[in-house]
Amino acid sequence: MREQIDNLIQKSKSFTITTKEDLEKFRLKFLVKKGLVNNLFQEFRLLEGEEKKLWGKEINIAKQRVEKFYFDAQNKINGEVYFKKKEQELPGYFSEIGSRHPINFVVEEMSQIFERSGFSIASGPEIEDDWHNFSALNFPENHPARDMQDTFFVGDDIALRTHTSSVQVRLMEKGDLPIRSIMPGRVYRNEAISARSNCFFHQVEGLYINKGVSFLDLKQTLYNFVQEFFGANTRVRFRASYFPFTEPSAEMDIYLGIETESDVRLTKGTGWLEILGCGMVDPNVLENCNINSKEYSGFAFGLGVDRMAMLKYGVKDLRTFFNGDKRFLDQFVNL
Ligand code: DAH
Repeated sequence: MREQIDNLIQKSKSFTITTKEDLEKFRLKFLVKKGLVNNLFQEFRLLEGEEKKLWGKEINIAKQRVEKFYFDAQNKINGEVYFKKKEQELPGYFSEIGSRHPINFVVEEMSQIFERSGFSIASGPEIEDDWHNFSALNFPENHPARDMQDTFFVGDDIALRTHTSSVQVRLMEKGDLPIRSIMPGRVYRNEAISARSNCFFHQVEGLYINKGVSFLDLKQTLYNFVQEFFGANTRVRFRASYFPFTEPSAEMDIYLGIETESDVRLTKGTGWLEILGCGMVDPNVLENCNINSKEYSGFAFGLGVDRMAMLKYGVKDLRTFFNGDKRFLDQFVNL
């Protein structure tokens, strides 16, 4: 009996099953009524007494092993066939690729330009206290920008920052001189929402504090930026301006011309578009941040990002950047 059992196992094991036909052949050889497994059972029935007890268990185990061999092979073949068939029928897998937001992309591009000229990147909180957003920056107590109309207050003397200039103060207070940093970020103002203005927007602030920094350094830094960002032949002009935290202060315009309808609209018919405010850091501001204004001087600037992104991508309505419409954002997947 031993020999017959081993023989059966051996035979089943050496049977290679790779196709459905092999599977069927195996079944016919081993598992049908007149197959080898049943043959063995027939011989087993002829045994008597002790011998029957002894081999009963063994024969059942052998039967299970042959069946398992069959079912494993069957599962494998059916599975493969199933997947082969399915794979051919199914449309390709499509995983959606997100896109970088155009505003972030513009911020990144700007950052890279400034990084190449030695600026590092810093950031600060969007919820600010009065000191960092206004007082340290030399805003007089009754300055209109502190009005409820412009500022979103979230508590006594706590507000959503109205500009990234607040981060300047934080950097200067740290006292790690010299400072040569840009500070990109989101800012908030309580303004009516329209195609050209929103209650939040983005700025890239710049600050350079060292011994002997002059207005010439400021101009050169900004010329360099404009040439890299808008192209080598871009015309710029500086206009005298006023900010509480810089003295002297200026605004810089770039020349777009008035050839296209959108240029006329954007520049209000002048051909010039204001892109930033800048100036020499007011000595009061330096002193507010414990920097000796006799020893150090510096320049600062604040660039508006959103308008640049509108220009760059020909977007006419600022709101489309932020309403989350996938069809709009999908246009930027290749950025
Ligand atoms: N903080 C100003 C604004 O939001 C922009 C600005 C102007 C920033 C002059 C500066 C600066 O750093 O020097 O309108």
